[in-house]
Amino acid sequence: MDNKLKPGSVILVTGGAGFIGSNLSDRLLNLGFLVICLDNFDPFYYETIKRDNIKIALKHPGYKLIEGDIRDKAFIDTIFKTQGIDMVIHLAAKAGVRPSIADPPGYFDTNVMGTINILEAMRSYNVKKMIFASSSSVYGNNPQVPFSENNNVDYPVSPYAATKKAAELLCHTYYHLFKFDIFCLRFFTVYGPRQRPDLAIHKFTDLILNNQPIEIYGDGNSSRDYTYIDDIVDGIIRSTKKLKGYEIINLGGGKPVSLITMIITLEKMLNKTAKKIHLPFQQGDVNTTNADTTKARKLLEYSPATDFDFGIREFIKWKLK
Ligand SMILES: NC(=O)c1ccc[n+]([C@@H]2O[C@H](COP(=O)([O-])OP(=O)(O)OC[C@H]3O[C@@H](n4cnc5c(N)ncnc54)[C@H](O)[C@@H]3O)[C@@H](O)[C@H]2O)c1
Repeated sequence: MDNKLKPGSVILVTGGAGFIGSNLSDRLLNLGFLVICLDNFDPFYYETIKRDNIKIALKHPGYKLIEGDIRDKAFIDTIFKTQGIDMVIHLAAKAGVRPSIADPPGYFDTNVMGTINILEAMRSYNVKKMIFASSSSVYGNNPQVPFSENNNVDYPVSPYAATKKAAELLCHTYYHLFKFDIFCLRFFTVYGPRQRPDLAIHKFTDLILNNQPIEIYGDGNSSRDYTYIDDIVDGIIRSTKKLKGYEIINLGGGKPVSLITMIITLEKMLNKTAKKIHLPFQQGDVNTTNADTTKARKLLEYSPATDFDFGIREFIKWKLK
């Protein structure tokens, strides 16, 4: 396979109907790539939302939707055998930190076994380029802030985080043994149009719009390094161009926002005051996430530019359309 992707190269986007995958696919199509979206429309949230995410892409001649499950090894093999894939952007996963506490085996099946199925099929059909969606959650309650790729991440605090760390280790093994080129990108809380409905910004927006109370865990000072979807997509596209060897790279916004500030911003943009219920801090949650993006800036020339107010405005515009 040619080392460099060109317009016309075939990119398999697993989880392509989801929040990040659908935004990414739209951008890849605009750049002239052929996109195969592989998705099982997992019931974690409404299928109709995912169908809506890919409505425009489905009209594009360079786009193909293949419905199926990454846990089905034979099915995955057939895709690689028949579709002439040049690169994989592996986003399919059971996402969500809190729900993983109720279902560790389910998370392991999809996020670890599903990833092995993809890696094995890649090995069988000599496709050796992958971008893997990892997560800031692997840092757990890392005391070193901002979080650097060099920090120890051996102490995950949720099953979800443990599966992402496990998949990173598998990716390294395939790089080491079979000379794959793999970048594991650690996304920091992504937001923007099409954001998953379980994520705080989206969930709070729904509740505020419906005059229902929002639950605030802890004192409201916990913070997240929110990263706007266009910046994440930009980081992924840059990674496809630089993909060589094995790297773990943080993709964050670089400016953590406290829970209280996030709520105040939503109230301002929605022009409504939220009803608030204060509850104790939740097990499995982390207090802060904060990306050190030095490596991404150096290696990818990644430069997240989106201001939080602007990003929230774009999200609300999409939500209310
Ligand atoms: N959104 C974030 O803030 C964030 C942060 C860190 C990491 N990530 C990671 O980025 C990736 C995309 O996240 P997202 O927010 O777009 O989530 P999402 O749930 O919107 O997208 C994931 C997609 O994967 C599909 N999927 C799930 N299980 C599958 C299976 N067994 N076979 C085939 N498809 C399956 C789902 O149907 C969904 O469309 C995930 O790997 C997630 O863990 C997301």
